[in-house]
Amino acid sequence: MSLESRPEWAAFLGTPDAPSIARLFADDVDRADRYSGFAGDLFIDLSKHRWDDRTRAALLKVAMAADVLGARDRLVAGERLNTSEDRAVGHLALRAPVGQPALVDGHDVSADVSAVRARVNRFARDVRDGRILSVTDQTFTDVVNIGIGGSDLGPAMAYRALRASRSGGPRVHFVSNVDPAASAELWSSLDPRRTLVVISSKTMTTTETLANARAACTWLGRVIGDRVERHLAAVTVDVDAAARLGVERERIFPFWDWVGGRYSIGSSIGLALVLAIGPDAFDQMLGGMRRIDEHVCDAPIARNLPLQMALLGVMYTNRDGAETKAIVPYSSDLARFPAYVQQLDMESNGKSVADDGRPLLGSTGPIVWGEPGTDAQHAFFQLLHQGTHLVPVDFIGFASPAGPDDLLDADDDRHRQLLDNMLAQSRALAFGRPADVTARLPRAEHRAFDGDRPNTVILAPRLSPSVLGQLIALYEWIVFFQGRLWGLDSFDQWGVELGKTMASERSEDDASTRRLRDQLRHWTA
Ligand code: F6P
Repeated sequence: MSLESRPEWAAFLGTPDAPSIARLFADDVDRADRYSGFAGDLFIDLSKHRWDDRTRAALLKVAMAADVLGARDRLVAGERLNTSEDRAVGHLALRAPVGQPALVDGHDVSADVSAVRARVNRFARDVRDGRILSVTDQTFTDVVNIGIGGSDLGPAMAYRALRASRSGGPRVHFVSNVDPAASAELWSSLDPRRTLVVISSKTMTTTETLANARAACTWLGRVIGDRVERHLAAVTVDVDAAARLGVERERIFPFWDWVGGRYSIGSSIGLALVLAIGPDAFDQMLGGMRRIDEHVCDAPIARNLPLQMALLGVMYTNRDGAETKAIVPYSSDLARFPAYVQQLDMESNGKSVADDGRPLLGSTGPIVWGEPGTDAQHAFFQLLHQGTHLVPVDFIGFASPAGPDDLLDADDDRHRQLLDNMLAQSRALAFGRPADVTARLPRAEHRAFDGDRPNTVILAPRLSPSVLGQLIALYEWIVFFQGRLWGLDSFDQWGVELGKTMASERSEDDASTRRLRDQLRHWTA
């Protein structure tokens, strides 16, 4: 069986290839307008892609056959979409409008969500305003978030993205890797008398997080003695487990098993971020996420931009054989965004069985990677322009820098240069350089830029908390729609569970692993 066995896929895959991107523009003066639009504050340009109206119509039929709109409604209703674990998927309830019901698995969770949010906000305000003090009666200058995966990447990415919004909050640091070298420098730079440690783990069973939490408690205890609990807080579904670690119950901020780790940034997993940027800015981020949810629910299907982006991704994966996708923000504040989307996408859609357990018929989630421009231009853009792989790129840029304008001298035009670079790269990828220009140059064949390399440009006025929320929700929806188009469960992660279990099950070592352990022992004997 192959994808062609489904009539809608056969029709799409049989659609004649669209002409080159350059030809598509030459034939349609309105293309830049017709293939772009707004989702919230995000202006999304999908014109530099290898698709035309016929391709788009065929893709929309694939979407309708997969009942993506029905699936969207089931996600909005918080239904049990995590079929392999038989769990409800309710992260949209975390950003539902205040005062309105938010359904998860048939129950209105809005009161629970508001109550926990109020506790998080009160705690954050008390720490920020100095009503909660350290054992030495000093304010907390630093917060260390200990967590990994979804309990790290979201707050770490957003903290970096919103550093211009920190306004008087403590500095926040993130410890995730169990490698002691990853955090040694951090711990030695901090004062335990003024450091608050937040243990973030949905399950409170993740070995890396527990090991790092123990190390942090030892580090605190060496200086502040037996009052370590006054420097601890925790975020988890398993409140009792956090209490057993020595965290006082009033400093444990729960969330629910219907929030997947990689979808948890809007839950109390955002505590470290709320401590840094304050409850108001965090609310603005949630409001931004809600704006994209509203767009997804209200925009007609042909102008539903997350769906269009999902369809483009499916087109490159299943028609053109693209295996990867690059995300290149022209904003160093978004430096961690590619890694965030990497977990979101690859943990969600890196699957090879359908949600009914049968093998999937075609390729699924792409390898997601990326780095901020302009650095990226001097690292991997050579391959994007002239390499043999097809790598669709998402560019993200902002009209104004995130920090206060008064930081820039009037004659400092580096931000303009940054944007010029982004637009030039997008153009060069799509249109290349005309062959007649190249032909006149020495070593013409090496200088050839064929173009026709697809890319999306996402623009916003400025990287505010709301815009960050919009970007997060945009990619969540793309991943969700793609999961439905492929018919897989985007909300489990059995592949990660296996590695977690095997790290603690040494008895079953195979011959190669035994040989490697012998070698390690030999070097440390
Ligand atoms: O990486 C697998 C995973 O289960 C992620 O989905 C999750 O975000 C991460 O581990 C951390 O898990 P926890 O929050 O339970 O410590």
